Amino acid sequence: MDTLQGIDELGPWRGCTFVPTMGALHEGHCALISQAADRGGKVLVSIFVNPSQFAPHEDLDRYPRELDKDLTAAAAAGADAVFVPDLELVYPPEQQIATPDLPEVATRPGLEDAQRPHFFGGVCRVVARLFDLVQPSSAIFGEKDWQQLQVIRALVRREPKRFPLQIVSGPTVRERDGLALSSRNAYLHEDERPRALALHLALQAAATTSNVAQGEAAMRAQLDKANLRVDYAVIRDARTLVPCVDANAPRRALIAAWVDSIRLIDNCGV
Ligand code: PAF
Repeated sequence: MDTLQGIDELGPWRGCTFVPTMGALHEGHCALISQAADRGGKVLVSIFVNPSQFAPHEDLDRYPRELDKDLTAAAAAGADAVFVPDLELVYPPEQQIATPDLPEVATRPGLEDAQRPHFFGGVCRVVARLFDLVQPSSAIFGEKDWQQLQVIRALVRREPKRFPLQIVSGPTVRERDGLALSSRNAYLHEDERPRALALHLALQAAATTSNVAQGEAAMRAQLDKANLRVDYAVIRDARTLVPCVDANAPRRALIAAWVDSIRLIDNCGV
């Protein structure tokens, strides 16, 4: 497997299936890489911990960085190459790398956009830059970051000439008991781990009713029982992420909650 670091090495990878990541690869990422490999064609994974999507008080400095392990995992999952750009390549000091205008789904729902106001600006900035550099024919993102997935779909839909690629989603990978895999699970202490499961239990509770208010109340009850601090626990239109108006449109239950100092998110169709 190749490791690429320079722009001039990317030429042969145009038209690949692209799996952008921030490293700390776990089985969830590996499932996305395998899914990419199953599509046929070449698979390029990127590893870049993007500073512009972290606020100053967030965990950029302690975000897990384990490149050798990541390269081994990416190769085993079916990557043909891993692109590991440095900061100056992604954000050259002499070149203004603009943040694209954000689509409504990045600013309106009051979910991640409200809790982490810098986040989608940073994600869209880096994803647009990586798409410009790599020029893939498709890119895969996990459903675990549901709002991010909708934001990237909207970004690409709005500028089809600049981004002539297909966005493919990969299902959330879970531990046997249901906890969604996340790089941030590594921060959970032994006694916090069972409480983290409340997110999954809350989503299961939401899926037992078709009534939005009842579903949201059922989620709150599970999260309160585990004594988690809740940023949001809502049922929304699955695509726009604003409150459901069309009774026939697909819905998504979405949660962000804190287990002490660790913020976890999860979601499912309901
Ligand atoms: O989902 C992630 O890991 C990141 O937000 C992404 C899409 C790689 C951009 O840095």
